[in-house]
Amino acid sequence: MYAAVVRSFDSGPKYEKIAAPAPSGEHEALAEVLAAGLHLRVRAQANGSHYTSTEELPLIPGIDGVGRLPDGKLVYFVATDNAQGSFADQTLIDLRRAVPLPADADPVLIAAAMNPAMSSWVTLRRRIQAKPGFKVLILGATGNSGQMAVQIAKLMGASQIIAAGRNPDRLRSLTQLGADVVLSLAGDPLTAARSLGEASAEVDIVLDYLWGEPAALSMLPILTRRSDRSRLLTWIQIGSMAGADAAIPSAALRSANFQIIGSGQGSVTPAGYLAEFPALIQAIAEGQLTANPIVYPLSQIEQVWKTSADSQQRIVFVPQAETDLPSF
Ligand SMILES: NC(=O)c1ccc[n+]([C@@H]2O[C@H](COP(=O)([O-])OP(=O)(O)OC[C@H]3O[C@@H](n4cnc5c(N)ncnc54)[C@H](OP(=O)(O)O)[C@@H]3O)[C@@H](O)[C@H]2O)c1
Repeated sequence: MYAAVVRSFDSGPKYEKIAAPAPSGEHEALAEVLAAGLHLRVRAQANGSHYTSTEELPLIPGIDGVGRLPDGKLVYFVATDNAQGSFADQTLIDLRRAVPLPADADPVLIAAAMNPAMSSWVTLRRRIQAKPGFKVLILGATGNSGQMAVQIAKLMGASQIIAAGRNPDRLRSLTQLGADVVLSLAGDPLTAARSLGEASAEVDIVLDYLWGEPAALSMLPILTRRSDRSRLLTWIQIGSMAGADAAIPSAALRSANFQIIGSGQGSVTPAGYLAEFPALIQAIAEGQLTANPIVYPLSQIEQVWKTSADSQQRIVFVPQAETDLPSF
């Protein structure tokens, strides 16, 4: 079979012919991979920087995908936690980490949408129980995950969605997807933090894909403008596009009913994620959530890998590619 193989964390994957793995045990199956997304998490896996990295090499990257089981059934699967990822013609699937897909589901759409979508879907259902009517600020709303968060907050009954990000075109497009207010983070960080404070003082939840300076600078401007500081504000750390660390002002934690939690692998159990997948898949398959996939044959991974990640689209690799796909 062919796979993308990482042999050093200093260089990207290479497309190589390797021996297909053999399933062992009743929970494993060798599946044909139909589509797998190049999520930011996959890049972090392939360069060894993700917090779950075991530093095991060589590794086949890819954390999830859509596969066809030997009995012909389509599944969405989360790759096993070893070095055998989904960027391959075939992969070993742990059937306990796979959920059935409707026979007419679009593998590319599911592969593009699941990772960015689960970042807010699972958060709003498993890290907190968001009640309809909640008000939410999405920090970093212009990326694939932020765009999903806008739509998912709407689906879950948010009464006000404030979407903040840098890219003006993308920000504008978020109003069509459900954002009530869009806020620019471009320009002077202190000015942006003040605007966030003015617009978001009454939110119940912050879904934070940025962390770093935007988070640290905007906490006090938001908290000090609240009409009732004893009303809970839950700040949920999901991504760290603006920095892995943030200098949290101590006064933020004293001066208001304010809690900071995180959401990701580890803070939600695998069983918790799996339990949410069927409803999320249904929402994607029914077209309730918009994703922007761009498809490449897996055989072109070396060229695609070298391009900077485009936050407007989610790259999806199709291992058994047809010839009419875009090429480099
Ligand atoms: N915990 C989870 O469950 C989970 C799941 C999925 C993703 N994530 C994390 O969420 C984050 C976003 O993922 P994604 O899939 O949305 O990535 P993406 O599609 O590549 O989008 C990244 C976004 O971040 C923005 N950005 C980058 N640096 C910024 C900065 N300094 N200030 C403001 N905006 C900035 C980019 O805006 P521009 O267009 O202006 O550059 C872009 O809109 C990543 O950290 C990812 O690891 C977490």
